[in-house]
Amino acid sequence: MRVWAIANQKGGVGKTTTTLALGRGLALRGHRVLLVDLDPHASLTRAFGVPADPPPEGVLELFSAPPQTLAELARPGAIEHLSFVCAQPALATLERRSANQPGLGLALSQALTRHSGQHDYVLLDCSPTLGLLMINALAAADRVIIPTQTEPLALHGLAGMCRTVEMVERSRQRPLPASVLPTLYDRRTRAGQDALKKMQDDHGALVWEDAIPVDTRISNTELLVQAPGEDSGYPGRALSAYKRALEWILAEDQQLLERAA
Ligand SMILES: Nc1ncnc2c1ncn2[C@@H]1O[C@H](COP(=O)(O)OP(=O)(O)OP(=O)(O)O)[C@@H](O)[C@H]1O
Ligand SMILES: [Mg+2]
Repeated sequence: MRVWAIANQKGGVGKTTTTLALGRGLALRGHRVLLVDLDPHASLTRAFGVPADPPPEGVLELFSAPPQTLAELARPGAIEHLSFVCAQPALATLERRSANQPGLGLALSQALTRHSGQHDYVLLDCSPTLGLLMINALAAADRVIIPTQTEPLALHGLAGMCRTVEMVERSRQRPLPASVLPTLYDRRTRAGQDALKKMQDDHGALVWEDAIPVDTRISNTELLVQAPGEDSGYPGRALSAYKRALEWILAEDQQLLERAA
């Protein structure tokens, strides 16, 4: 079972879209996939059509005593092999609890250890806040995928995220390989082209050589969680770019596994 955290401390860079698109791609390839919504704003949960009220069971229950298991909390999506665990707004209160309850930073790692083998891939959709939930995700992940908007300001967010990854590596004493996925790329603008080049210059081989283009069709998250119709399953430029990105990420995963063996 491989665990990928999809994280960036900057908001609105495409983390949730990336989680949905990669999860969809993996499931369509026949892998058993679990998506975990770690954002109290619950965009991923909403994409699956689960209402906010009443709050669904979900990630909060991984932190209760005794905790529920991921298998108990996983719900099936419309796409075969694709399940998800909901986020709840009350996740925002965990931060306060963590002051009096040491060990909460490893709740997700422990849940995943117990879940071992039940899914092939677990994708963790992080919130843009560097808090307890992101620390849980980075502590548990085999690797982190950092969607980064191809615009100049987002490069600061990427540098901050790389520092966070280094901090987590020191604390868990295990490498946390990072890959950067340029998102929301508008190749017609100079700012977009410059930002993509700077990302590649600064972070080299960590950066995917291509980029996910701006394509409003992908904003329709309902489409992302629906089973494909008679088309290829990847309508739209952004979704086909995500298909290529997944191939790159899987090839890298293979190399990481070979290096670890
Ligand atoms: N390639 C794309 N083309 C056009 N719109 C996109 C693309 N990727 C994402 N979006 C849109 O941009 C917005 C932000 O994307 P998304 O919610 O995936 O980002 P996020 O990083 O998860 O945000 P947050 O930090 O708030 O959780 C959404 O409205 C989404 O539909
Ligand atoms: Mg999000």
